[in-house]
Amino acid sequence: MDWGMKNRMSKIIRPEDNRCVMLAVDHGYFLGPTERLEVPSNIIKPLLSYADSLMLTRGILRTSVNPNNGLPIVLRVSGGSSIVGEDLSNETITTSVEEAIRLNASCLAISIFVGSKHEHQTLSNLAKLVNEGERYGIPVLAVTAVGKEMARDARYLGLACRIAAELGAHIVKTYYCENFEKVIEGCPIPVIIAGGKKLQEVDALELAYNAVQHGAAGVDMGRNIWQSDYAVEMIKAVRAIVHENLNVNEAYNILLKAKNEKGEEKGQLQQQKIVKSTD
Ligand code: 5RP
Repeated sequence: MDWGMKNRMSKIIRPEDNRCVMLAVDHGYFLGPTERLEVPSNIIKPLLSYADSLMLTRGILRTSVNPNNGLPIVLRVSGGSSIVGEDLSNETITTSVEEAIRLNASCLAISIFVGSKHEHQTLSNLAKLVNEGERYGIPVLAVTAVGKEMARDARYLGLACRIAAELGAHIVKTYYCENFEKVIEGCPIPVIIAGGKKLQEVDALELAYNAVQHGAAGVDMGRNIWQSDYAVEMIKAVRAIVHENLNVNEAYNILLKAKNEKGEEKGQLQQQKIVKSTD
C-alpha cells in the first residue's frame, strides 16, 4: 500500500486499535429529508467531536459542514435512484475522484446490490472506483446494500462482503447478523456495521457490542445515533464500546445518566442485558 493510501486509511480505521466510529449522514441521497436529519447541520455539529469520520454526500458536505473542521470525510459517490423510484439498485457513480480530491475526502463510499437486478452494474461501479482510488491513493468503502427481498443472513452478507473484497474494496460495510464471525472469516478486509432502522438505545448498543466482539472493526452508524433523543450520549456510548471496550451496561449508563438528569428514568438499568465478556 502506498503512503497516501495508508495515511488515508489510518484516518478511517484508527491505527491505535484498528477500530472505527464513522458517523453516517448520507441517508438523504435516496431518502430525502429523513426524520431528524431534515437540517443536517443541526444534527451533525454536536456529534462531530465523538466521531472518527463523517460519511456524507458532497452536497451536504458543502452546505452543512464547516470546512475548518478537521474530521476525515468518507464521501458517498454513488446514487441516482430514490425511495419512490423504480429500483434502488439502479445506481451510478455520481461524483468524480477529481471532485473527491477537491473536497479532501479520505475515503470514497459506494453501494453494491448483490443479488439485485442491477448487481452487475453496481459491482462494475465498485471495480471502476477502486481502479480510480488506487490511482490516487484513496481507499474505497463498499456498502453492501440489502434489498427488501434479501435475507440479512451470514450466507448472503458473507457473499456480498467477500465479493467487495475480491473487487478491491478497502473496507466493507454490512449488517450484523447471526453467525457474524462467518462473514468476518470470509472477508480479508475490515468490516464495519450499519445500525439500520432505529432500535431501542440499549439494543443498538448491544448490536455494536456484539459486532465488535465478533470481529467488526467498528461502526458506520446513523439513525440509531441521531434519531435518539440522546444523540450525543448515544455516540459517546457507541464510541466507548468501539474504542474503550465497554460492555453494553457500562455504555448504556452514559445514556442513563443523561436520562436521569432529565428525570426520565431513575436508578438502575431498566433493561438489564447480561453480556458475557466472551460474547
Ligand atoms: C445508506 C447508508 C447508511 O449510511 C448506512 O446504512 C448507515 O446508516 P444507518 O446506521 O442509519 O443504517 O449507507 O445506504
